[in-house]
Amino acid sequence: MNRIKDRIAVITGSARGIGFSIAESFAAEGATVIILDLFKEAVDEAVAKLISQGYKADGFTGNVTKPDDMEAVFNAVVEKHKTVDILVNNAGITKDNLILRMKEEEWDAVIAVNLKGTFICTQKAFKIMMKQRSGSIINIASVIGLMGNAGQANYAATKGGLIAFTKSCAKEFASRNVRVNAVAPGFIQTEMTSSLPAEVVESYAKAIPLGKMGLPEDVAKLCLFFAADDSTYITGQTLAVDGGLTMY
Ligand SMILES: NC(=O)c1ccc[n+]([C@@H]2O[C@H](COP(=O)([O-])OP(=O)(O)OC[C@H]3O[C@@H](n4cnc5c(N)ncnc54)[C@H](O)[C@@H]3O)[C@@H](O)[C@H]2O)c1
Repeated sequence: MNRIKDRIAVITGSARGIGFSIAESFAAEGATVIILDLFKEAVDEAVAKLISQGYKADGFTGNVTKPDDMEAVFNAVVEKHKTVDILVNNAGITKDNLILRMKEEEWDAVIAVNLKGTFICTQKAFKIMMKQRSGSIINIASVIGLMGNAGQANYAATKGGLIAFTKSCAKEFASRNVRVNAVAPGFIQTEMTSSLPAEVVESYAKAIPLGKMGLPEDVAKLCLFFAADDSTYITGQTLAVDGGLTMY
């Protein structure tokens, strides 16, 4: 308990799914969590859920691909909560298609949210963290960024890009005591994967040594490790939480 007590943690795309689970686990360890997502109703609902459990939470609406939105959100967070200690770049989308059929809009949309959104939020957070000479940034990548996937070239390019971005940020930010690590989830039960046909899920499960899909909480536990002081000598790393699917 209280592993990140009183720290201010911004988690993008946290109104549901893995992001919400990360928010819940951070809040349970004493952090004030900032829910940042696209739609006000969903943000309000997520914040209310956390507060009803006795946790400290606040919510902001914004699109991570829009620098002006993020400038306004990060300024408002600092005005209200004084600082940002932890950033989780979790907002992510898929727009799957085979390369031959992939539309330019499908390519651009995924790059914009997963990669550019992470750059924008990281830049805003680092400006705050460098002044206090401490911080932890966690980028949610994917095993697809490690091993590729037919029909997901756009998504794979962003997630592989995030891993390289993580290492570059870790090198740039280390002298300011700001750590940057990436988490690469495997197949996790969320709305993003709920539309997969049962036979596809079954075939994925067969390829996973631990024999089942993961839960959002499994990803949250690893994020908590990277956010907390348990990992103060770890930066630039990517760790998969995937039931053993990838073993690099
Ligand atoms: N579910 C999985 O199996 C899995 C596996 C590997 C990686 N991931 C990654 O984990 C992260 C979360 O995935 P999830 O399954 O919880 O997805 P999800 O679709 O359930 O949730 C994503 C959240 O991000 C928000 N979002 C999308 N675009 C946004 C934007 N432009 N600005 C702000 N918020 C935005 C959505 O509104 C939503 O609340 C993603 O980065 C995803 O790529 C998921």
